[in-house]
Amino acid sequence: MSDKFARRMGTVHRSFIREILKVTADPEIISFAGGLPNPELFPVDAMDKAAHEVFATIGTSALQYSTTEGDAGLRAIIAARYARRGLAVDPDSILVTTGSQQILDLCGKVFLDRGSKVVIERPGYLGAIQAFSLFEPEFVTVSLEADGPNLEELEAAFKAGAKCFYAVPNFQNPSGMSYSAKRREEVAELLDKYDVLFVEDDPYGELRFKGERLPSVYSLRKGGSLLCGSFSKIAAPGFRIGWVVAPRDIYDKLVIAKQAADLHTSTVAQAILRRYLETNDIEQHVALIRERYGSQRNVMLEMARKHFPAGVDVTEPEGGMFLWATLPEGTSSMDLLDLAVKDKVAFVPGRPFYVDGSGENTLRLNFSNSDPVRIEEGMRRLGVSIGSLLR
Ligand SMILES: Cc1ncc(COP(=O)(O)O)c(C=O)c1O
Repeated sequence: MSDKFARRMGTVHRSFIREILKVTADPEIISFAGGLPNPELFPVDAMDKAAHEVFATIGTSALQYSTTEGDAGLRAIIAARYARRGLAVDPDSILVTTGSQQILDLCGKVFLDRGSKVVIERPGYLGAIQAFSLFEPEFVTVSLEADGPNLEELEAAFKAGAKCFYAVPNFQNPSGMSYSAKRREEVAELLDKYDVLFVEDDPYGELRFKGERLPSVYSLRKGGSLLCGSFSKIAAPGFRIGWVVAPRDIYDKLVIAKQAADLHTSTVAQAILRRYLETNDIEQHVALIRERYGSQRNVMLEMARKHFPAGVDVTEPEGGMFLWATLPEGTSSMDLLDLAVKDKVAFVPGRPFYVDGSGENTLRLNFSNSDPVRIEEGMRRLGVSIGSLLR
């Protein structure tokens, strides 16, 4: 690369998913590619009402600059929701961020020097890989097994001097997999033993369709963790409102990095969301999302069983927005995508989720953003494309 751009730009590529989304703009294509919530479930009328009330009552302060830490009322609501789930969180330890994606950028600024070792899951969340890559770290990956990260690999990574471990223990993006109760405890123990910073990203935890809610790793260890949350999947991503719970010393550094980045998250967006939360039952709304996504997931799984050829493995997530499929060894989901787009169906090939270039035979399927009829037809088409690939 010429020296027009900073060196760090040489290590980061445009998000492959955003590139695929361009292909899927064709309305005839049934897309399982994006990671979008179902827009039919956005509470448009309630938000409209909340927005009107904000402008009628606190219009000027809602349009003014405000504090970096975030709206105090909104932080109190976030803390109260944790309390209802049995986790005591001081509202003053909550920093409101511009989407939970911003936390990853702030973590890069606060923790990573060039060459710092960052441990991530394999496969891992693409948005984290992209955000951290700008700080030129060394990624160390640990394989994700059915009940969580491989512990030997994790311990080896910690022993080798990891700066932090970033993970999505609930219904991970991209794999849909979750850590078991036992694995959470084992991971917490290892984090404490090696005193490694843990960045626990949890945008999907509330979208559980089956089974018991499991404790966060954050709550199981003695300290030294960040817990990230988001309103994107339980209210609407357009607000760009997320948050992080952080120990005081880290909190202060995150605030400095956030001030430099954007001064504060949109005051008006926070005010409208707060008003919405004060005047509506968000728990009831989340229950509705869970029910809808649960039935969409069931249809997708049923169709995978019906239409996918033998030898294709599919995860059975208990929540979240994604299924993860593994094709027979030696095949390529990039080749499959070419066939699938001709058959008018799309998905995200797995390789971008692996920093080591593996995962060639894997793919991510989103079920939150299609209705059951389109899921049935899309999975039928995808079954045909996989059949052609394997022949
Ligand atoms: C694991 C994970 N973390 C963070 C984000 C970012 O979400 P937001 O910035 O909308 O809160 C996403 C979005 O898809 C995600 O899947």
